[in-house]
Amino acid sequence: MDLRVTTQSLNEISSDVLVITATRASGEAKGIQLSSAGQAIDQALGGVISECGTNEEFKGNTGELLSIHTLGKLAAKRILVVGLGAAEKVEPQALRKIGASIVRHLHSTNARSATLALAESSAVSEAVQALTEGLFLGAYAFRKYQQNQNGERKLKDVQLQTSESNKAAVEEGVQKGKIFAEATNFARDLVNEPPRVLTPTELANRASAMAQQYGLECEVFDQAKIESLGMGGILGVTQGSVEPPHFIILRYRGAPESQEKGLAFVGKGITFDSGGLSLKPAGSMETMKSDMGGAAAAIGAMQAIAALKPKTNVTAFVPTCENMPSGSAFRPGDVLRLMNGKTIEILNTDAEGRLILADALSYASQEGHSPIIDLATLTGGIVVALGNVMSGLFSNDEGLQQEIIAAGQAVGEKYWAMPLDEEYGELVKSDIADVKQTGGRGASSVTAAKILEHFVGNGAKWAHLDIAGTAFSENAKNMEKGGTGFGVRTLTELALRSAR
Ligand code: BES
Ligand code: MN
Ligand code: ZN
Repeated sequence: MDLRVTTQSLNEISSDVLVITATRASGEAKGIQLSSAGQAIDQALGGVISECGTNEEFKGNTGELLSIHTLGKLAAKRILVVGLGAAEKVEPQALRKIGASIVRHLHSTNARSATLALAESSAVSEAVQALTEGLFLGAYAFRKYQQNQNGERKLKDVQLQTSESNKAAVEEGVQKGKIFAEATNFARDLVNEPPRVLTPTELANRASAMAQQYGLECEVFDQAKIESLGMGGILGVTQGSVEPPHFIILRYRGAPESQEKGLAFVGKGITFDSGGLSLKPAGSMETMKSDMGGAAAAIGAMQAIAALKPKTNVTAFVPTCENMPSGSAFRPGDVLRLMNGKTIEILNTDAEGRLILADALSYASQEGHSPIIDLATLTGGIVVALGNVMSGLFSNDEGLQQEIIAAGQAVGEKYWAMPLDEEYGELVKSDIADVKQTGGRGASSVTAAKILEHFVGNGAKWAHLDIAGTAFSENAKNMEKGGTGFGVRTLTELALRSAR
């Protein structure tokens, strides 16, 4: 799908579908209010659109759609009226949803081309960015393993129509929105790929191919290097798998003169989580190809950052391996020594994420990065607490916590601040090692975060995002099922803000 900006006048536009907007009349008043472009079109069609509004057949609610055939009265074959709701200012998150519902409607009705007439008020770059994101996120599908390509999308050309004076702002929004959405869709592809394809080696290959294309530095450590660094967490988890582990590093240097190592992302890259010897029940294993959602978010964000080129330094660290049961697997009762020298008593091999993250957090803090933000599909506990609406946010720094919530708000990703109080740390004290791997049933997402905290060193500011409930969607309405790419846009936005 190609998205372009046009300043052609509406009656010259011959797309299959012309998309216009309407707001719901405010207060007690009935009916709809059409944009000025919409009013002209309504007139050309003999007032049929406003008639639908007056009859309350179409109310102008956010995301509501009304499709009308022009029967030769206009160059476009159809008019699609999109409701913007009653609010004076349409929030970016609403525009994202609206963009997605427009594109999904265009797909399902076999449109080949469409032009969106932007209302004057939404012609600012921020709004256009959100709308563009919605269009590309809504257009996403993962169909490469389906033989029957009947469902193939015919929509090729989409245009945003605006005035000459708004053109520059609209173009800026399109460009930014496209970069944000493409990076999110790249992360979704990584998550959706079956685990027999997306092994740790394949994840490293795809990260490195992206780095080549976008001009990022990329290093991939193999098992021998991981051994020499003493990353006992990664080595312990990978023990049961025949696939070799990797440690991927992507570096973006937008401020080469800076003395600061800068922002670091750490992403959990378990390409399949069977639970290991503490085997998961079959049902819980079905979606465990998504256990590299944190890695996908970190890698996806690096793509967007490389494309947007903010003046700041950002590095992504991705420990990646499989968690499998076998005669060589690590066991409950084992004690592992992790990279920073601390030992951990294993109780449940299904709590593997914290082990590989611990090594990566040690590595990032030893290199001197701050802030460090890790993303992980870490606990079932966070799914119980927050469902698939919000991700859990744990941080040792109040300021960083607020920045993440604000960045998430701007890009349509929600976080809920969770505690890290001392008392929770008591639950992971071990009799025989420095820490115990799990803290029991209660507050399991918090005790997991308390373990991670042990491996953040050098006074680094740190935040942990538990995306177990948000990385993969099993019942999406306006979004394709599967990987969501959650976190890509927050991380990208944080990098842009850190450059300001
Ligand atoms: N990858 C899972 C967490 C998960 C659960 C992600 C559901 C997405 C959806 C993680 O490795 C895990 O198994 N966590 C266990 C830890 C427990 C054994 C201490 C959990 O939270 O149940
Ligand atoms: Mn697990
Ligand atoms: Zn896991």
